[in-house]
Amino acid sequence: MQRLITNWKFAWQAASRFVAGSSIQEAIPIVRDLNNRGFDVTLDHLGESTTTTEEAIRATDQILELLDAIDAAAIRANVSVKLTQIGLSLDQELCQSNLEKILLRARQYHNFVRIDMEDSPYTDETLRIYRGMRAKGHDNTGVVIQAYLYRSEADAKALLEDGTRIRLVKGAYKEPAAIAYPKKSDVDANYDKLANIMIGCRTMGADSPVGVDGRFPPVPAIATHDAIRIANVKAELAQQHLPNGTVEFQMLYGIRRDLQEQCIREGYPVRIYVPYGTHWYAYYMRRLAERPANVWFFLSNYFRK
Ligand code: FDA
Repeated sequence: MQRLITNWKFAWQAASRFVAGSSIQEAIPIVRDLNNRGFDVTLDHLGESTTTTEEAIRATDQILELLDAIDAAAIRANVSVKLTQIGLSLDQELCQSNLEKILLRARQYHNFVRIDMEDSPYTDETLRIYRGMRAKGHDNTGVVIQAYLYRSEADAKALLEDGTRIRLVKGAYKEPAAIAYPKKSDVDANYDKLANIMIGCRTMGADSPVGVDGRFPPVPAIATHDAIRIANVKAELAQQHLPNGTVEFQMLYGIRRDLQEQCIREGYPVRIYVPYGTHWYAYYMRRLAERPANVWFFLSNYFRK
């Protein structure tokens, strides 16, 4: 199915609503335009679940080139990385050494690397590798917490104590009810709760550990396109008399552009997650699965064509 779809020109045209080109050269003008309109960016060189050591090393090299390209183009962008892209499912030592290379290169440019969170078989390992990097003094990184997992409140609290920069998401993978809320309303309620815990941490005293970007406590990244969740965060900030810059909203390229613009107009920092590259199949399938209307949009455009 993957081969069929990725070789289909129409499918690429449809996917390019969510994917900013197949190379960094194609992505850079898009990032520059977003920067000019007030958005910060996180770039994702698409790829995950690499199956050989060579692939994991090649993916790492491509992320190093991405960091070089960001600096050379002087765009406002950091980088998001999936650990299975750089070898997590093959060999943990390889993955750690690849991640360390990426963090060192990012540090050279004073840049930041977000470790995306994948499906639950990788949660423990992802957090362990993140903590290992922090223990080695690599402060220019942070992780993602998924509101659909029951464990996330405990994880978030422990990570905040360590001064971790957290991106809060609902969660994009199919998980069993034994470990994740099956009902959307429960995921939403947990999202609000975790967002408030993260905002609460921002109001802690100045004796807290120093944040990786010099701003501490770390700025919570509120990653969602859910207008109600976003409104709740804004209301919480207003109630606590906190400035808009207390949080950073994050949204995916091509989704709810109206909401992205609105947050910028209101003076909130917004970062757009911009994926690019040829390995867009899995990313695009998750975007279709999140919203069945996207599948309909895809099919109706095909038949109209
Ligand atoms: P929800 O699914 O309730 O959608 C709210 C509204 O947003 C919808 O009503 C619709 O209008 C719009 N919308 C949402 N998805 C859409 C789509 N695909 N197409 C069109 N409209 C859509 N997940 C993960 O497990 N690990 C990770 O590391 C990350 N990283 C990440 C970074 C950033 C910046 C974002 C914004 C999201 C992620 N995610 C993620 C994905 C996240 O877990 C979640 O799957 C999506 O954000 C969709 O959920 P919402 O929070 O938008 O809410």
